[in-house]
Amino acid sequence: MSLHPDLKSILVSEAEIQQRVQSLAAQISQDYAHVGGELYLVGILKGAFIFLADLARRLQLPHHVDFMAVSSYGATAHSGEVRVIMDLREPIEGKHVILVEDIVDTGKTLNYLYKTLLGRKPASLRTCTFVRKLRPSLDVPVDYLGFEIPDVWVVGYGLDYADKHRTLPFIAELEPHVYSKPT
Ligand code: IMP
Ligand code: MG
Repeated sequence: MSLHPDLKSILVSEAEIQQRVQSLAAQISQDYAHVGGELYLVGILKGAFIFLADLARRLQLPHHVDFMAVSSYGATAHSGEVRVIMDLREPIEGKHVILVEDIVDTGKTLNYLYKTLLGRKPASLRTCTFVRKLRPSLDVPVDYLGFEIPDVWVVGYGLDYADKHRTLPFIAELEPHVYSKPT
């Protein structure tokens, strides 16, 4: 299979992803077996929608799914401030919440969301991140992690570059010339 010219190489294959998501779901199902139907998965749009869909369908326990959207990068340079542009539909007070994110890069987004949700007094709050870059980041708690990846721009499995390549079934590194050129 030939790769799109924007892509340098595949970092995590489809099979590896599916296997990892299955084991994360098994772990979460075991850890939350005691909470009954009160598990709330909060997915962060847009990046987490594919990961959340696969993860949720593999959980062996009843759960709710809700979404938030935050302002994101122009292209690849962080705009600084994180802003909620779409909030949850349901209050999470007293609920067991898992915040599901696509990626931790600087950690600013997860840090902001974690504090925001904690302020709403859930019964418990954990985080589940599909990938984390191996680079210095804010000290945010990641309770469930899919993969650690090098500090490069990646796309696929929900992750995009300027809204492209999101639906690839694997994680690929973008060719550096694609994201280093001014947009
Ligand atoms: P952070 O706040 O710097 O941790 O960045 C988190 C957000 O930046 C993620 O939710 C993504 O939307 C975006 N992001 C950071 N790195 C990448 C990447 O390599 N590919 C795609 N999106 C990324
Ligand atoms: Mg994101």
